[in-house]
Amino acid sequence: MDHKNFETTAIRTQIERSQYQEHSVPIYLTSSYVFEDAEDMRASFSEEKERNIYSRFSNPNTSEFVEKIAKMEGAETGFAFATGMSAVFSSLAALLNSGDHVISSRSVFGSTHALFTKFFPKWNISHSYFNVTEVDKIESLIIPKTKILFAESPTNPGVDILDLEKLGEIAKKHHLILIIDNCFATPYLQNPIKFGADLVIHSATKLIDGQGRVLGGVTVGNAELIREIYLFSRNTGPALSPFNAWILSKSLETLPVRLDRHCENALKVAEFLEADPNTEKVKYPFLKSHPQYEIAKRQMKQGGNIVSFEIKGGIDAGRKFIDAIQLCSRSANLGDTRSIVTHPASTTHSKLSEGERSETGISPGLVRISVGLEHVDDIIGDLKQALNC
Ligand SMILES: Cc1ncc(COP(=O)(O)O)c(C=O)c1O
Repeated sequence: MDHKNFETTAIRTQIERSQYQEHSVPIYLTSSYVFEDAEDMRASFSEEKERNIYSRFSNPNTSEFVEKIAKMEGAETGFAFATGMSAVFSSLAALLNSGDHVISSRSVFGSTHALFTKFFPKWNISHSYFNVTEVDKIESLIIPKTKILFAESPTNPGVDILDLEKLGEIAKKHHLILIIDNCFATPYLQNPIKFGADLVIHSATKLIDGQGRVLGGVTVGNAELIREIYLFSRNTGPALSPFNAWILSKSLETLPVRLDRHCENALKVAEFLEADPNTEKVKYPFLKSHPQYEIAKRQMKQGGNIVSFEIKGGIDAGRKFIDAIQLCSRSANLGDTRSIVTHPASTTHSKLSEGERSETGISPGLVRISVGLEHVDDIIGDLKQALNC
């Protein structure tokens, strides 16, 4: 039975029960599956029969996880990966040929940027970047070999918003495959397929796990494209482990309630930071001062859990602030129950040159907060004492 409401889909999408009639789904820690006879084996390998063969291709726990995300995103189907980056890499590598060209927003996660600039050129795959505020320039970057339009929204770490509807229109008009990394929004806050995306990618390591335990990734979308990604991945082996799939599928059961609180806390933190005299350029999609506030309101249900800001006084003040933090964690992850403070210039985006960082809006003093689920007064209390140190 298909459910109309997100919360019910999150909880009641479940693989078939075994003969033991368990209530909670068991973990299928098996690398392979057995066959009735030689004919059963032949028919399974030739894909005349749809069934599990080997856990590099499929597994009941990964199937449940993929089915849930696909339903939540309004996608036809998908494939689950060991990490968010294996989802990004395998999806792009499966679809691109030597000579192809990708157009991407300049503000993408550091490792995605490394794929475009350091690794894809080895296979003669080129790219052009557009700035988040220059969506109108995308059409001028299209060349005959352009195949994919790629973007993240909200972006990491700048929390900029791209107009997904506009990207969808451009992709449709020019027959480009539109791929959106929806990591910061999760399927609960934003569904890019509604705006014309062909594929949606998540790092499940972040808010989908939500408790900083496991790595995972997933790509969902158009069935023909997923078929190509599946064939590439079946042979190259970036599959998600059944254990991690079980954790992630369980975590999805609480995604809506967790996200409601994350977003409520993040808005309060953003409002506090905006009013504090020691900060500037506070960015949160649902703050009225956000440059793309109207677009965020149109395409997102709530603003997410990431807030970025700058401390007056540049890099030295930034380091002093990070050293003074007591409750929040100094870590590079995001989307955990624990609030996390990161300095992108010296961590997640340290491999970029200073010029590249400034082009993507990462100033030396930029701080990113992944607002967690501690009591919001305690989170704000910690930020306040650190800002006043
Ligand atoms: C937007 C975005 N995409 C992809 C990734 C990569 O995910 P993973 O660390 O699971 O490989 C990250 C990680 O921070 C991210 O923030």
